Amino acid sequence: MDNTDYYKTIAPRPTLCVSTTSKEGSSNIAPYSFATPLMMDPPIIGIVAGGEKDTLLNARETGDFVVAPLTSDWINEGVRSEVELPRGESEFEEVGLTESESQKIAAPGVKEAPINLECKYRDEFRIAGNFLLVGDVVHITVKKGALKKGRINLEELGTVGHVCGEEFCVANEVARIERD
Ligand SMILES: Cc1cc2nc3c(=O)[nH]c(=O)nc-3n(C[C@H](O)[C@H](O)[C@H](O)COP(=O)(O)O)c2cc1C
Repeated sequence: MDNTDYYKTIAPRPTLCVSTTSKEGSSNIAPYSFATPLMMDPPIIGIVAGGEKDTLLNARETGDFVVAPLTSDWINEGVRSEVELPRGESEFEEVGLTESESQKIAAPGVKEAPINLECKYRDEFRIAGNFLLVGDVVHITVKKGALKKGRINLEELGTVGHVCGEEFCVANEVARIERD
């Protein structure tokens, strides 16, 4: 079994675009799918970087990052934001995304994203050459259009899950299973 099969064993994984600002003030965004909510209460998110990537370096240096779960309406831009630019150059502009001002932190969110989770760097763990970046969610912004009767409407959002390589799933069907 190679890595491709391993990736497919637990799939789809949430595709989270993570935006940060460098300490010199330039913004950065990249998609991560070895990334997940780690804890329920308090809300804590974990992102795995396969090396000291700009996202990790910026979050470590500034203490801030924003997580925007990728949805179908900006799927192409979000996936393309993996483009590697020299540190200091913004992928936002390169892929046609717009920065939005965050409420509680300095790092920008994604204007095109229905949901932005503002996070404060809590810790990081180096594991076999990878880095698990752990952050506390300090503020969540949800666009009105993503809500139905005041609750997040997943069918409408079309959250994007990563399978592997160029394979993705779009979640726009919710199964309701009765629970005792
Ligand atoms: C859908 C998708 C998911 C990805 N998931 C990860 C991941 O979980 N960890 C990782 O290190 N790179 C992942 N990548 C690759 C990074 O996005 C890429 O290395 C990017 O250039 C990192 O940018 P940064 O240096 O600005 O953080 C993924 C790419 C795509 C398209």
